Amino acid sequence: MQCNALHEAGYDIVVYDNLSNSSHEAINRVSMLIGQPVEFIKGDIRDAESLKKIFSAHHFFGVIHFAGLKAVGESVAKPLLYYNNNVSGTITLLEVMKEHSVKNLVFSSSATVYGDPESLPIDESSKRSCTNPYGQRKLTVEHILEDLAVSDDSWNLIALRYFNPVGAHPSGEIGEDPNDIPNNLMSYIFQVAVGKLDKLIIFGNDCPTVDGTGVRDFIHVTDLAQGHVAALNYLDKQASLNEDSMTQNSVGFLPINLGTGKGTSVLELVSAFLDVSGQAIPYQFTDRRAGDIASRYASADKAKTLLGWQAELLITDMCQDTWRWQSMNPNGYNVS
Ligand code: UFG
Repeated sequence: MQCNALHEAGYDIVVYDNLSNSSHEAINRVSMLIGQPVEFIKGDIRDAESLKKIFSAHHFFGVIHFAGLKAVGESVAKPLLYYNNNVSGTITLLEVMKEHSVKNLVFSSSATVYGDPESLPIDESSKRSCTNPYGQRKLTVEHILEDLAVSDDSWNLIALRYFNPVGAHPSGEIGEDPNDIPNNLMSYIFQVAVGKLDKLIIFGNDCPTVDGTGVRDFIHVTDLAQGHVAALNYLDKQASLNEDSMTQNSVGFLPINLGTGKGTSVLELVSAFLDVSGQAIPYQFTDRRAGDIASRYASADKAKTLLGWQAELLITDMCQDTWRWQSMNPNGYNVS
């Protein structure tokens, strides 16, 4: 999906992925949608030699770094893996970028870095704290990027803090197909809709929210992809300004929220999914999940002011596109 958005915006792209939680079929479908083959290299960000070869063979403007593992439960069970892939992998990537004088980076961070927020909406200056290894490693990488920006002012490092991404490409051809057990709210709702699960278990109806259920800032993945394009465009504009004025004004470390700025409760999402799919979503309340935050939504002002970006799509679009992707691809990318 990100490739489609970048292609439409006029960027030439090279995809580098170890396919540990994705499929080559996704690349085939992107190529089909954009009408030309996407340059794809299978590799791991921890493999410096492989990265060096690619950086030597191309003249890159920048890197969008999505190569992180992202399951909270797995990060608790396998903390070393998260240090190794998410932290060491990022360091290796940054070292290779530095060696090749590629200093523009857009990093996938997460609203998880805010932990339990002191106030809402959450803006980028809010206190950061995390309780699980996944979130802590996102924060570790943010600290690394901050230190790097202080050490050398030629780096331009944007950390995009995603709120709750959902949805799929509107064509129904590209969507999330995790190799592990899906564990976010939308995947559970879908599994109930298609009868794989009897009912949705809702964690708590006594939160201090509109209807007692948890509130999140759900953002369509298409909007998220456009947010990355806007971040790259911003870096590109800064580079042009520097070239024109022959000065060096670096972006440094720049954290930016990608959210809609609106909170939606679990029950509101269930109701929207029912409207779109026509499928009943039986549910049952249970105790609140350990460590769950009652309410979290973004201040999206910084993205609008600096990047000229704001989310356009609605909860109904997120449900519609998830439903289309899942209905067209009941086995994900496993087409055989
Ligand atoms: N929920 C249910 N039932 C479910 C699943 C979720 O009621 O079966 C509720 C949760 O209690 C919460 C809301 O739905 O109120 C959203 O839960 P998710 O697990 O979908 O999302 P979270 O915001 O809790 O966590 C997500 C990711 C994490 C990531 C975090 C911060 O799942 O991996 O956002 O980015 F760390």
